[in-house]
Amino acid sequence: MNARELKELFITFFVGKNHVEIPSASLIPENDPTTLFISAGMHPLVPYLLGQPHPAGKRLVNVQKCIRTGDIDSVGDTFHHTFFEMLGNWSLGDYFKQESIPWSFEFLTQKLNLNPKNLHVTIFAGDANTPLDEESRKLWLEQGISPEHIHPLGVEDNWWGPAGTTGPCGPDTEIFFDTQFGQPDIDFKTGCQSGRYIEIWNNVFMQFNKTAEAKLLPLTAPNVDTGMGVERTTAVLSGLSDNYLTPIFQPIIKAIEALSSQKYSDNPIPFRIIADHLRAAVFLLADGVEVSNKDRGYVLRRLIRCSVRQGKMLSINQNFCAHLGQIIINNASNFAGDYPELSQHQSSILTALEAEEIKFRRTLDKGLNKITQLINRQKSLSGTDAFDLYQSFGFPLELIQEELQKHNLSLDLDEFNRLKAEHQKQSQTLSAGTFKSGLADHSAVIIKYHTAAHLMHASLRRVLGDHVHQAGSNITADRIRFDFTHPNKITPDQIQQIESLVNDQIKAALPVTHQIISFDDAKSQGALFLAGHSYPEMVTVYIIGSPHNFYSKEICTGPHVENTRVLGNFKITREESAGSGKRRIYAILN
Ligand code: ALA
Repeated sequence: MNARELKELFITFFVGKNHVEIPSASLIPENDPTTLFISAGMHPLVPYLLGQPHPAGKRLVNVQKCIRTGDIDSVGDTFHHTFFEMLGNWSLGDYFKQESIPWSFEFLTQKLNLNPKNLHVTIFAGDANTPLDEESRKLWLEQGISPEHIHPLGVEDNWWGPAGTTGPCGPDTEIFFDTQFGQPDIDFKTGCQSGRYIEIWNNVFMQFNKTAEAKLLPLTAPNVDTGMGVERTTAVLSGLSDNYLTPIFQPIIKAIEALSSQKYSDNPIPFRIIADHLRAAVFLLADGVEVSNKDRGYVLRRLIRCSVRQGKMLSINQNFCAHLGQIIINNASNFAGDYPELSQHQSSILTALEAEEIKFRRTLDKGLNKITQLINRQKSLSGTDAFDLYQSFGFPLELIQEELQKHNLSLDLDEFNRLKAEHQKQSQTLSAGTFKSGLADHSAVIIKYHTAAHLMHASLRRVLGDHVHQAGSNITADRIRFDFTHPNKITPDQIQQIESLVNDQIKAALPVTHQIISFDDAKSQGALFLAGHSYPEMVTVYIIGSPHNFYSKEICTGPHVENTRVLGNFKITREESAGSGKRRIYAILN
């Protein structure tokens, strides 16, 4: 079975159980300044999991593209990926365990025809706050799962979320497939580590909202959030124990074999890393991420550079990233979801891949010169020198060692590893800062900024013209950053006009209301929306002012303040270019 067929079966099954299919959201979280990427199907649904009504109803299903940078170091094995697709079904305060578990079992055994004897499940063993999940155990037994295949595990394994540090979370039950059916069972955790028992589906019973103070508050209505990994399940269904042997990855692997004249089976790790990372890079570029030294752009840079390095390991010395990018785009039919953004942005994706590869190859050449100089001068290379090269030139350790070997020298690996560990610790502390306020931190101040951003958007269009469209936004507790289409610098006079318009609306104490209407109606009523973004059939529209005489109307997930009077005083603090044809504004409320 291929990924497309799996998706069709999944969606059809849950639509048959009255779920509505919603489109995959962008990989870039909207209105969530605290995480870099969408990492699960539930992530774009956080406001609805917290109780806001979803325009499509209480039962949803989709395939969501995801990126998990936390797994980047595990890539190279048979089943971890940075980019992957997740199938999910949700109950927003509707059904719970009694439906979710039997439906999962029915889907796996009746639609995917998996043998129930091949399944293992885990349930939450309980902790000081929450008891053992007896109900899930009973439901699994009723399906016919044998008691030895039901494994109660603790918080580290069977508690899911929140995705950041705050948000919806709860105990889960995970479903595993035994890839060596017929062999005697082994210790469950050992079997998971060795890749014998593969997790294919996770059903989370979201009962709590974790607050910034780490308190678990019960949700008004409990939700079900499930996630099935498309790549793993596709492999399992084809009897393969290596995701890279499925049609999802094979065209890329075959192309790398042709480029390198080496066989995947002889040296699979570099092949896997290149295939994984370039897939992720292509999708990030398609969602508008640009290569840079910061945040998302830096992750993208690392993915491309790491691919080039792995290519060098395979002695691919010509540029290859754009070629593989093209293959990934051409083979989009192997993905579960439809991603028109790939072909739409094909030429800019390929250009960006090629440009970064050329840049990095130059960097590598410089690094090589530096090594040669150091060796000639010192007749040795210390662990610190090597770490410097690794750190500032992005020069890979393996290549440093290779160069040293040519001169019959060896490296002080202990010193190198010590420096690397120190550096990692520092950057972990830094990135922990990014997540400090947690996923979907809908703190009062962020909600205010969010409403102010709508007022600013509407005001920009009034002052500059209707060609102004939002091209991105990022809101933190300290400021709004807003990108939009406009060819010229904004003059001080225009800035002043925009500020006054926004402040006038604040003083006018306008009500903020929302409606759920069809996307087509929203557009015909002049609601603003993000171009190139896919919207579901029904959307939420936020209106500032009276519905018949509004100041702003935008399609948006919210939340927003109820009246503009609480916003305070609006001020633009900076205006700059955000690339060709785009400007960026920073603004604050005080
Ligand atoms: N959100 C859950 C997961 O990612 C389903 O595993």
